[in-house]
Amino acid sequence: RHRATVSVAIKKEFWGMGLGTALMQGMTAFSEKNGAKQLELTVMSENKRAISLYERQGFIAVGRMPNAYLMKDGSFCDEISMVKIL
Ligand SMILES: CC(C)(COP(=O)(O)OP(=O)(O)OC[C@H]1O[C@@H](n2cnc3c(N)ncnc32)[C@H](O)[C@@H]1OP(=O)(O)O)[C@@H](O)C(=O)NCCC(=O)NCCS
Repeated sequence: RHRATVSVAIKKEFWGMGLGTALMQGMTAFSEKNGAKQLELTVMSENKRAISLYERQGFIAVGRMPNAYLMKDGSFCDEISMVKIL
Protein backbone atom coordinates (compact mmCIF):
# COMPACT_ATOMS: atom_id res chain seq x y z
CA ARG A 1 0.00 0.00 0.00
CA HIS A 2 2.93 2.38 0.34
CA ARG A 3 3.77 2.06 -3.39
CA ALA A 4 1.93 3.77 -6.25
CA THR A 5 2.44 3.20 -9.96
CA VAL A 6 1.86 6.21 -12.18
CA SER A 7 1.75 6.90 -15.92
CA VAL A 8 0.81 9.88 -18.03
CA ALA A 9 -0.16 10.36 -21.68
CA ILE A 10 -1.24 13.56 -23.43
CA LYS A 11 -2.71 13.88 -26.94
CA LYS A 12 0.08 15.08 -29.21
CA GLU A 13 -1.68 18.30 -30.18
CA PHE A 14 -1.50 19.37 -26.52
CA TRP A 15 2.16 18.55 -25.85
CA GLY A 16 4.48 21.26 -24.53
CA MET A 17 1.77 23.19 -22.70
CA GLY A 18 2.67 22.02 -19.22
CA LEU A 19 -0.15 19.47 -18.98
CA GLY A 20 2.16 16.51 -18.35
CA THR A 21 3.83 18.42 -15.53
CA ALA A 22 0.48 19.46 -14.05
CA LEU A 23 -0.86 15.90 -14.17
CA MET A 24 2.27 14.56 -12.51
CA GLN A 25 2.01 17.18 -9.75
CA GLY A 26 -1.67 16.29 -9.28
CA MET A 27 -0.90 12.57 -9.08
CA THR A 28 1.86 13.26 -6.57
CA ALA A 29 -0.44 15.28 -4.31
CA PHE A 30 -3.21 12.66 -4.59
CA SER A 31 -0.77 9.84 -3.79
CA GLU A 32 0.69 11.64 -0.76
CA LYS A 33 -2.78 12.39 0.54
CA ASN A 34 -3.70 8.71 0.25
CA GLY A 35 -0.68 7.37 2.08
CA ALA A 36 1.75 6.49 -0.70
CA LYS A 37 5.43 6.72 0.23
CA GLN A 38 6.88 6.30 -3.23
CA LEU A 39 5.81 6.69 -6.86
CA GLU A 40 7.07 4.23 -9.44
CA LEU A 41 7.01 4.11 -13.24
CA THR A 42 8.68 2.61 -16.28
CA VAL A 43 9.52 4.40 -19.51
CA MET A 44 11.12 3.50 -22.84
CA SER A 45 14.75 4.62 -22.87
CA GLU A 46 14.27 6.48 -26.16
CA ASN A 47 11.46 8.63 -24.69
CA LYS A 48 13.68 11.60 -23.81
CA ARG A 49 10.75 13.96 -23.46
CA ALA A 50 9.08 11.84 -20.79
CA ILE A 51 12.34 11.07 -18.97
CA SER A 52 13.15 14.79 -18.84
CA LEU A 53 9.72 15.51 -17.36
CA TYR A 54 10.08 12.75 -14.76
CA GLU A 55 13.56 13.89 -13.71
CA ARG A 56 12.35 17.46 -13.28
CA GLN A 57 9.58 16.09 -11.05
CA GLY A 58 12.12 14.35 -8.80
CA PHE A 59 12.16 10.81 -10.20
CA ILE A 60 15.47 8.96 -10.33
CA ALA A 61 16.37 5.99 -12.53
CA VAL A 62 16.87 2.81 -10.51
CA GLY A 63 17.06 0.14 -13.18
CA ARG A 64 17.29 -0.66 -16.85
CA MET A 65 15.88 -3.75 -18.59
CA PRO A 66 17.77 -4.31 -21.83
CA ASN A 67 15.74 -5.07 -24.97
CA ALA A 68 12.45 -4.84 -23.08
CA TYR A 69 10.62 -3.76 -26.24
CA LEU A 70 10.84 -5.27 -29.72
CA MET A 71 9.93 -2.51 -32.15
CA LYS A 72 8.05 -2.97 -35.44
CA ASP A 73 11.26 -2.30 -37.40
CA GLY A 74 13.02 -5.16 -35.62
CA SER A 75 15.11 -2.99 -33.31
CA PHE A 76 15.03 -3.22 -29.52
CA CYS A 77 14.48 -0.55 -26.89
CA ASP A 78 15.44 -0.69 -23.21
CA GLU A 79 13.01 0.06 -20.37
CA ILE A 80 14.02 2.41 -17.54
CA SER A 81 12.54 1.96 -14.06
CA MET A 82 12.20 5.17 -12.06
CA VAL A 83 11.11 6.03 -8.52
CA LYS A 84 10.24 9.20 -6.61
CA ILE A 85 10.44 8.98 -2.82
CA LEU A 86 7.71 11.14 -1.28
C1 LIG B 1 5.63 12.76 -22.09
C2 LIG B 1 4.39 13.63 -22.10
C3 LIG B 1 3.42 13.12 -21.04
C4 LIG B 1 4.79 15.07 -21.74
O1 LIG B 1 3.61 15.83 -21.65
P1 LIG B 1 3.63 17.41 -21.92
O2 LIG B 1 2.28 17.92 -21.56
O3 LIG B 1 4.12 17.71 -23.29
O4 LIG B 1 4.69 17.88 -20.84
P2 LIG B 1 5.00 19.35 -20.38
O5 LIG B 1 4.50 20.33 -21.38
O6 LIG B 1 4.53 19.49 -18.97
O7 LIG B 1 6.60 19.35 -20.34
C5 LIG B 1 7.31 19.04 -21.50
C6 LIG B 1 8.77 19.26 -21.20
O8 LIG B 1 9.48 18.38 -22.01
C7 LIG B 1 10.68 19.01 -22.37
N1 LIG B 1 10.95 18.61 -23.73
C8 LIG B 1 10.31 18.99 -24.84
N2 LIG B 1 10.85 18.36 -25.93
C9 LIG B 1 11.84 17.59 -25.46
C10 LIG B 1 12.78 16.69 -26.07
N3 LIG B 1 12.77 16.46 -27.41
N4 LIG B 1 13.67 16.05 -25.29
C11 LIG B 1 13.68 16.25 -23.97
N5 LIG B 1 12.82 17.08 -23.33
C12 LIG B 1 11.91 17.74 -24.07
C13 LIG B 1 10.56 20.47 -22.24
O9 LIG B 1 11.65 20.93 -21.48
C14 LIG B 1 9.26 20.65 -21.50
O10 LIG B 1 9.59 21.27 -20.32
P3 LIG B 1 9.27 22.85 -20.14
O11 LIG B 1 7.78 22.95 -20.27
O12 LIG B 1 9.77 23.13 -18.80
O13 LIG B 1 10.03 23.56 -21.21
C15 LIG B 1 3.73 13.66 -23.50
O14 LIG B 1 4.72 13.98 -24.44
C16 LIG B 1 3.05 12.36 -23.89
O15 LIG B 1 1.91 12.13 -23.52
N6 LIG B 1 3.77 11.54 -24.66
C17 LIG B 1 3.19 10.30 -25.19
C18 LIG B 1 2.91 9.29 -24.11
C19 LIG B 1 4.13 9.01 -23.32
O16 LIG B 1 5.22 8.92 -23.83
N7 LIG B 1 3.91 8.88 -22.01
C20 LIG B 1 4.95 8.47 -21.10
C21 LIG B 1 5.09 6.99 -21.13
S1 LIG B 1 6.08 6.43 -19.78
